Amino acid sequence: MKTIGVLTSGGDAPGMNAAIRSVTRTAIGKGMTVKGVYRGFNGLLNKHIEDLGVRSVSNIIERGGTTLYTARCPEFVPLEGVRKGVKTCIDEGIEGIVVIGGDGSFRGAKDLSNEGIPCVGIPATIDNDIAATDYTIGFDTAMNTAMELIDKLRDTAQSHDRCSVVEVMGRRAGDIALYTGIACGATTILVMESDYTVAHAIERINSTRTSRKHHFIIVVSEGFTAGNKISADEISRQIESETGVETRATILGHVQRGGTPTLRDRLVASRLGFRAVELLSEGKGNRVVGIKGAAIVDYEINEALAMKKTFDDEMYKIAEAISF
Ligand code: F6P
Repeated sequence: MKTIGVLTSGGDAPGMNAAIRSVTRTAIGKGMTVKGVYRGFNGLLNKHIEDLGVRSVSNIIERGGTTLYTARCPEFVPLEGVRKGVKTCIDEGIEGIVVIGGDGSFRGAKDLSNEGIPCVGIPATIDNDIAATDYTIGFDTAMNTAMELIDKLRDTAQSHDRCSVVEVMGRRAGDIALYTGIACGATTILVMESDYTVAHAIERINSTRTSRKHHFIIVVSEGFTAGNKISADEISRQIESETGVETRATILGHVQRGGTPTLRDRLVASRLGFRAVELLSEGKGNRVVGIKGAAIVDYEINEALAMKKTFDDEMYKIAEAISF
């Protein structure tokens, strides 16, 4: 393969730039030409593509967001859209593409591979909701951001003897809620993967009050509020009326998606970027790379998409065991 493309797609995640840099430099080191495709698969549809040199990716490893911009691209779902993308690849001499994003992006990568442009997916999303890997780029940075913000909420909750209900991101996975909840000493964590409801949070508050606990943090995942059709505000109202503890709700929102990537995100992004290019240079496409334990792994995209993500029940037990 002489020329490859690289794109970022779906929701941005801190560390995407480190992945772009790794892909670009690895490929150039192997004598390839690299083309940056802008705004996800849209760049293939509207031919927004630029050559990336070694210096194009200087000073981006420490930056959040994505210098290639990103988008979700519904026009790329029908075969017609995919074929238009293939035509652009042929016109531009792009023989393979590294797709950095979540599983929605991997579907586009699979379709392109099936139409003759081999793609390798790199998992990047703050949600950590991809089963084929233990870890997705951006997860660590997002958790650290959430942790710092929840620590600040704790200060004010403690000063006022209040309860703070905090909603963190994670549409289809409660991982951000679980791990930041433990790290912030949450009284309870509500995620869609567990049977616990608001009644459980109320019970925990009432039972821990008997041991002179006066302030409470309840971490709630976005998936829980969406799945149970209850807002963080409504949870807060129910807690206040059932316990008498003054309660405030905060939705952390998109602030979790930005910021300087942590060491872990830069490192994983660098390793996965390197492996993705190795695969393409070996002529292998239609694959997703990931990390399992300490090892870098890769799977066929369909196989990766069919895997079921499991929730860390042990960790959830620990959270409940030490939060009273
Ligand atoms: O997938 C990452 C994520 O941040 C989810 O946690 C959240 O539900 C979604 O993206 C938000 O998407 P958007 O940025 O399009 O509002």
